[in-house]
This record gives sequence, structure tokens and C-alpha cells, in this order.
Amino acid sequence: MEERKGFGSNFGFLMAAVGSAVGLGNIWGFPYKMGANGGFTFLLVYIFLGVTCGFIVMISELAMGRKTGKGAVEAYKIVSKKFKWMGWLGIASAFFILFFYCALGGYCIKYVVLNVGDLFNAGFGSNVFAETAAANGTSTGAEAWSALIANPTEAIIYGLIFVALTMLIVLGGVGGGIEKVCSIGMPALFVALMICIVRSCTLPGAVDGLKYMFIPGWAVANGVIEKSPNLFQVFATAGGQMFFSLSLGMGAMITYGSYLDKKENIQKNGLLIVIMDSIVAFMAALCVLPGRFALDPNGDLGGPGLLFVTMQNVFSRMGSIGPLFGILFYLLVVFAAVSSSISLLEVIVAHFVDKARDAGKGDKRKAYTLIATAAVSLGCVLVCADAMGTSNFSPADLLGITEPKAWAADWLDFWDCISEGIMMPLGALLMTFMVAYEIGPEFVKNEVEQCGNKFSMYKFYRFCIKYVTPLGLLLVLYGQIKSFFF
Ligand code: PHE
Repeated sequence: MEERKGFGSNFGFLMAAVGSAVGLGNIWGFPYKMGANGGFTFLLVYIFLGVTCGFIVMISELAMGRKTGKGAVEAYKIVSKKFKWMGWLGIASAFFILFFYCALGGYCIKYVVLNVGDLFNAGFGSNVFAETAAANGTSTGAEAWSALIANPTEAIIYGLIFVALTMLIVLGGVGGGIEKVCSIGMPALFVALMICIVRSCTLPGAVDGLKYMFIPGWAVANGVIEKSPNLFQVFATAGGQMFFSLSLGMGAMITYGSYLDKKENIQKNGLLIVIMDSIVAFMAALCVLPGRFALDPNGDLGGPGLLFVTMQNVFSRMGSIGPLFGILFYLLVVFAAVSSSISLLEVIVAHFVDKARDAGKGDKRKAYTLIATAAVSLGCVLVCADAMGTSNFSPADLLGITEPKAWAADWLDFWDCISEGIMMPLGALLMTFMVAYEIGPEFVKNEVEQCGNKFSMYKFYRFCIKYVTPLGLLLVLYGQIKSFFF
């Protein structure tokens, strides 16, 4: 039988796992959610949930993957009687997330191209101190966004380019494709983000962005948001954000864990993934919010507007250097998104490849990657063609709903609400039940302690997984359902 090839080094694994975690959730979701939910309070709640829920589920998923050496579907089948169907929930989530994630990734590629065009338009001879986009010859965010919405064909093409990029990397396999791309790309992303933070925080007026982030109540006092959310809502928003951001509750970390060498330390890796993902989310907020407050103080804060209207306004108003920062920033976002989408596609591909290999049919990675990609492309085309609900076939149109909630307004939010809002927190909740009350926390302990590694936080882990994590997850799930649908 062919050998199942995993990661070549622990560094490679770590970069791939952090690459999965760091994505649109960090760069787009975290900044505006943090600001709109009490800034510093949100950060504290986020850290608390990261330690008591995120870290706990992360360790459990990595251990489950490595113990079984299989993708999500087989892993659940091997360890549990009652929850053996859960892997399929993960595969379905992976598809649903990919549908909208690839569309958004495609939009980001479009913005890279747009800024390359602006670079030539603005030219180096233009007025560096010009304050308006027109004088600079650059595209405003509103122009760029409405052009994209008005032209679904273009959005579809960019979406499919993103899908193709994801496919090419996954075709290369775990060690050859995913690990190589992430080992170079993640450090590069970090450097690019640092450069953007320095530029953003030194803009005149940037300090308002920092106040928005760090001073509780500032956003309400200054009319940026209407009223401060209650603590429960902060809790639910922070929790939902964190699970999505850490790629938990749908089998991505089970799958990556299954390729991890027995001698590697799961506790240390799990901690590092959670810490690095949170640091990047925080860094993204330091890049996006000060820029927004300095150069587009009345701009959108939440939803796609922040990334695709407000940030583009920021670049178009930076003078002739703006497009260069625009290119750097959107490239960074494209990379963050690709390193996440490859882990989503790998959840699907790993399962079918394992099955083929176990049946003695050899490694059919190529065939299964192509089939999965074709299915993902269909969903991505639907989201792009719907153009944020401006088509006549949005979920609300099809269901005859006249005043739709977010989930029905457009296909992008539809897939997002089902996967991020319900399936992922539900997946994580059921998995903690399984570990705590069916297979027992010792299962995880035994796996973490392979090859002489110590699980020094085991007591904390056991306490959390039995009581704190399920309770936290229940509240998060309840809050998410409430905010999406009611
Ligand atoms: N963690 C990614 C982000 O923050 C999204 C993701 C979710 C990736 C689930 C893989 C699995 O954008």
C-alpha cells in the first residue's frame, strides 16, 4: 500500500496550521467586531474564550487526528459510536465555507489588480499630496465595489481564479503543496502586515482608531456605533469569531493533526496556533482601524464594506504611494485566504484519498481534488452571480421573503450563517461532549503524551472540557442563532 505522506517538519506543520487559522476572519472579521463590541472588553472576553474553549478544542482535534491518522470522517468513525456521523458534518461545513470564502478571495484578487492599474494611472509624477481620489487618478472604494457588484461575470472569473489557486496547492499534497506554500507565505504575510501597521498608525488622525480599539465606551460616545452591546452579545460574537478564526469545529485541525508526526508536542503546537492566530487578528485590527479613522472616518465598519469600500478609500486617499500599499495589503489578504481555503479543501480531499488508499486503489489525490474543486466552483459561481443579493435568485427571492434577515438576503451570508453560525459551534460542542463523556479526556492525554511529551496542562484541560467549554459553546451557539435569525 502507498505511504500516507505528512508534514516534513514541525515548522511546516505549524505554518500550515497557522495558515489555516489566519484568514479573512482575522483581517476582516476581527477588526470590526472588536471595535463594535466594546474594543478592549471584547479583547479580554476573546482571550478568556481562547484559553478555556479555543485551546481545549484545538488540542482535542489535533490529538484525535494524530491518534487515528485519518481525515475527519474516518477519525470520528474510529473513536466514537454515538458521534460517528460527525465527520460528514465537517465535510459539509468545508463545502459551505468554501462557497463564500472563494468568492471573497476572488474579490480580493480583483482589488490587487485594481491597485496595479491605479499605480499606473496615478503614476509617479502625480501630485503626492493630492487628497482626493480624482486628483490622484485612483479608484475610490465605492466605485470599485459597485463596479464589481454590477459585473457578476467579472466576479465569477476572479472567484474561479481563486478556486484554481486553491486546487493547484492541494494537488501538490500536504508536504509538497500545502507545507511549502505556507512555510514561505506565512512569514512573508507577517512582514507585510508589519509594514501596513507602521503606515497606518503613522497617518494623521490614526489615533482615533486606537481609541476606538482600546477605550471602552469611546465608540458610543463619539457616535461611531449607536449603543454598546450587552455582555452576552459580546460573548457570543467573540466566541463565534474565535471558532471560525481558529478553524475549529469542522475537522480542519483533525485533518492536519492526522499528518503530524508522533514525536511532535501537541500541547505546545496547540498553544502556539491559538496565540499566533490571536496576535495576527490583533495586528490586523492595528492596521485596518487606524487607517479607516484617519482617511475614511465616515466609512463602513462592518460587513464587506470595511474590506472592499473603506480600505480601498484609504489607499486611494494616501497619495500616489497609496496603490503600492493597496497592492501589498490585498495581496496579503489573498494569501491569508488561500492558506485557509487549502485547509478547507484538504478536509474533503483527505477523506476520499484515504478511502482510496485503504481500498488498495493507490493515491487518487489528483482525481478527488479535481472532483471536489468542480463542486466548490459551482457554489462559488452561485455566490458571485448573486452579487450580494442584487440578483433575482437570492435565497429571499427564491423563498418569497420580502424583508429578509441577513441569512436570506444573499447567498454569501446564507452559506456563512449556516456554517460559521451554526454548524461550526455545533460541531465543536458535540465534539467536547464526545471527548468529555464518551471517550474520556484520557484519550487525548494518552495521545498528547506520545514519545515522552508531557501534558502539563492536563488538569486544566480536563476541567475545561467537562464543564467550562461545553457551557461556553452552548452560550455561543445560542447567541449566534439569536443574532442571525431573530
Ligand atoms: N480560520 C479561517 C479564517 O479565519 C477560516 C477557516 C474556517 C479555515 C474553518 C478553515 C476551516 O478566515
